[in-house]
Amino acid sequence: MSDTQTPDQPKGAIARFLAAPPDSVGKTIFVAVALCLFASMIVSVAAVSLRPVQEANKLRDKQLNVLQVSGVYEPGMNVAETFAAFEPKVLELATGEFTDEFDATTFDDLAAASDPELSVALGNDPAGIGRKAKYRVVYLLKDDAGAIDKVILPVHGYGLWSTLYGFIALEENGNDIFGLQFYQHGETPGLGAEVDNPRWKSLWSGKKLRDENGEMQINVSKAQSPAGPDYHIDALAGATLTSVGVDNLVKFWLGDEGYAAFLAKLKTGDL
Ligand SMILES: Cc1cc2nc3c(=O)[nH]c(=O)nc-3n(C[C@H](O)[C@H](O)[C@H](O)COP(=O)(O)O)c2cc1C
Repeated sequence: MSDTQTPDQPKGAIARFLAAPPDSVGKTIFVAVALCLFASMIVSVAAVSLRPVQEANKLRDKQLNVLQVSGVYEPGMNVAETFAAFEPKVLELATGEFTDEFDATTFDDLAAASDPELSVALGNDPAGIGRKAKYRVVYLLKDDAGAIDKVILPVHGYGLWSTLYGFIALEENGNDIFGLQFYQHGETPGLGAEVDNPRWKSLWSGKKLRDENGEMQINVSKAQSPAGPDYHIDALAGATLTSVGVDNLVKFWLGDEGYAAFLAKLKTGDL
C-alpha cells in the first residue's frame, strides 16, 4: 500500500457512488434522471389508461353535435340513448350510394382520408384539405313512418388558422339547410371562433343550397348574394377569412366533389 492511499477508500463504482456526498455531481445527475424516468412513466401510464375515456368522450361529443345540429338536443338528455335514433351509414361519394363494405359505427372516415386506398388527392382543393376520403359516414334521422326526415353530413375545410370540422343537417329534400355546426377548430375567439355563436349558426336555418336550375347558390359573404336572401349568410364581422373558409368548405362538400350524387338520389327518393 502506498503512503497516499487511504486504507478504507471504497473499491467498486457503486460503493464509491454510495459513499459520495449527497450534493456530488454523480448523485445530482442520478436523482434528476430517476425523477425524469419516474415522471415519464407516470405520464405514459396515465396516457394509456385514459385513452378509452378520451375515445368515449370524443364519441359522445360527436354524437352530441349530431343531436345539436339536427335540433334534437335538449339539456340533460341522455346523449347516447337519443343518438340511437340516428342511423349511421357509410356513403360512397362518387356513386352517392350506401355501402356495407365498412362498419358504419366504427369506420373512421377522417383517418381514411390519409389512406391512399380509401382516398383521393385533390387537384382543385377549395376546402384546403389536401385529400378526400372516398367514403363518409353520414347519419339519417327518420320519422315514425320510416321515411328520411333529415340527413346529417360531415364537412370540413380550412379557415384562417385551422381546419374546421363540423356537420351540416339538411331536410329530406337534400336542399334546405336545417343547421350547420362545427365541433372542432382553432380559429380566434371573438373573431373566427364566432362560427360557434348561436346567433350566427341560426342564420343557416332555412337557407337553400341550390336554385331551381340546380345551380349551387349558397353564399357566405359581406355583400348580398346575387341569388337572393334564401341563399345568403352574412359573413362574420372581423372574420372574413374564416367566413370565406366556411363558404368554400360548404360549397365543396355539398357540391360535385362531395355529396352531390347522394343529394340527387335523396331528392328523387332513389336511396
Ligand atoms: C390576432 C388576430 C387574430 C385573427 N383571427 C382571425 C380569425 O380567426 N378569422 C378571421 O377571419 N380573421 C382573423 N383575423 C383578422 C384577419 O387578419 C383579417 O383582418 C380579417 O379576416 C378581415 O375581416 P374583415 O374584413 O371582416 O375585417 C385576426 C387578426 C388578428 C390580428
